[in-house]
Amino acid sequence: MKGRPGSDADRPARNPAVRPALVVLVALLPFAAGVGVYEWSSHVTPDYNAGLFGVHGLDTYGLKARLGTALLALALVQLGLALWMYGRVPGTGPAPRPVRTTHRIIGLSAFLLSLPIAFHCITAYGFESSDTRVTIHSIGGCVLYAMFVAKVVIVRSRHLPGWVLPVAGGALICGIALMWYTAALWVLNGDTVPGL
Ligand code: HEM
Repeated sequence: MKGRPGSDADRPARNPAVRPALVVLVALLPFAAGVGVYEWSSHVTPDYNAGLFGVHGLDTYGLKARLGTALLALALVQLGLALWMYGRVPGTGPAPRPVRTTHRIIGLSAFLLSLPIAFHCITAYGFESSDTRVTIHSIGGCVLYAMFVAKVVIVRSRHLPGWVLPVAGGALICGIALMWYTAALWVLNGDTVPGL
């Protein structure tokens, strides 16, 4: 596998010596983010009439399902751009600089798009564990924000092995897909999804 794309002369070379302090940072910050979301969502008093962009009650279901699908679409574009940067898209050649810039802009957009959806989930329902699907979705929401934080810490570091970043990015995309499957697809598919 090719290494992480880092051909830019303006970036310092990756230092293969992993620093213990960095490992602690990479582990602790995401853990704190995940626990923070869990603590908030499990202590909130649910307000089932909480609004989202002026929409209330049952109407939020369809809106959130569409926003969640848009989030998944952004995640899939991110996957394609990442594969291009790693030279894994046949016939494309080395990724030009705008690909990396676009990847960053879409990554930030995806994060920002996720916030109102998750905020509504937390304020309307909190952490629910009434059945398997909802439990997976609630745990997934906590882990997702741990993964967002992990990805940002890892992408900023030049002192981690090259495989860490694609693994973190891939896990993040899988996390978004899981959130979509356990809630957005469930809504769009008439309150049912295969296996759950
Ligand atoms: C990117 C993050 C998230 C996405 C895309 C997402 C998406 C959705 C969607 C589309 C629904 C169905 C519509 C609705 O019930 O209003 C939903 C419901 C729900 N979400 Fe989330 N959500 C996210 C984060 C979270 C988080 C962080 C939590 C809590 C820790 C959470 C807990 C719930 C619960 C308990 C429900 C109700 C499930 C049900 O009764 O069917 N979600 N979510």
